[in-house]
Amino acid sequence: MSEMKNIPQHIAIIMDGNGRWARLRGKERSEGHFAGMEALQKTVYNAADIGVKWLTVYAFSTENWGRPQAEVDGLMELVCTGVEMHTPELKKQGVSVKIIGDKSRFSQKVSDALARIEGHTAGGERMTLVLALNYSSRSEIQTAMQELARRAKAGEIEPEEIDEKMISSSLYTAEMPDPDLIIRTSGEYRLSNFLMWQASYAEFYFTDVLWPDFNREELEKAIEAFSARDRRYGLVK
Ligand code: FPP
Repeated sequence: MSEMKNIPQHIAIIMDGNGRWARLRGKERSEGHFAGMEALQKTVYNAADIGVKWLTVYAFSTENWGRPQAEVDGLMELVCTGVEMHTPELKKQGVSVKIIGDKSRFSQKVSDALARIEGHTAGGERMTLVLALNYSSRSEIQTAMQELARRAKAGEIEPEEIDEKMISSSLYTAEMPDPDLIIRTSGEYRLSNFLMWQASYAEFYFTDVLWPDFNREELEKAIEAFSARDRRYGLVK
């Protein structure tokens, strides 16, 4: 515990390994995702308890639509049941939920569930849980570039005015601090189209643990590793 000297303000997690966790137990992939949801629930409250202010999780990428239809349907159903099951406790615990990603592709049922969880938890000040759903960094940047180009064409801004701050505030993550620590589980070492702009100065932590097995001890290990890092932001000490 004492090694967690420096608590990251914003942790982002690539929750990977649900499928392998299920296969190792002779279970269906959907059961792996359900176990992943339970790991997420515990991680949210553990992070809030430790003092993390922002927790962003990669729950569904734009590429995930290419998975077998039954798996996609199962994940969408999990979003809806997750909202039903967890909204009251999130509200009670002071955790507000924000969605990042292109919301236009979801069914009405999923869109309603997402609006419900964002609405009911709004104002929670202990921590913000950011769910990246139908998210990819490249499409986020593409959308932001289109918007800036539209504004330039309309004469609202000059192209020379476009600076890093303006780009940051055109992304889904406008108003959010950049992640300090990015965790990826399951022994994969990739960013997979996640927060590429925002990750410029993030520290990375990789673990072989499969997402459904991620627990408080693993979260503390990641924060301890982060605490031992020397962040120089391109400068010298
Ligand atoms: C990656 O594991 C995980 C996902 C694509 C989905 C993440 C979803 C959850 C943790 C469930 C809870 C969250 C919501 C809001 C739906 P994988 O399936 O790629 O695992 P594998 O690489 O072992 O096959």
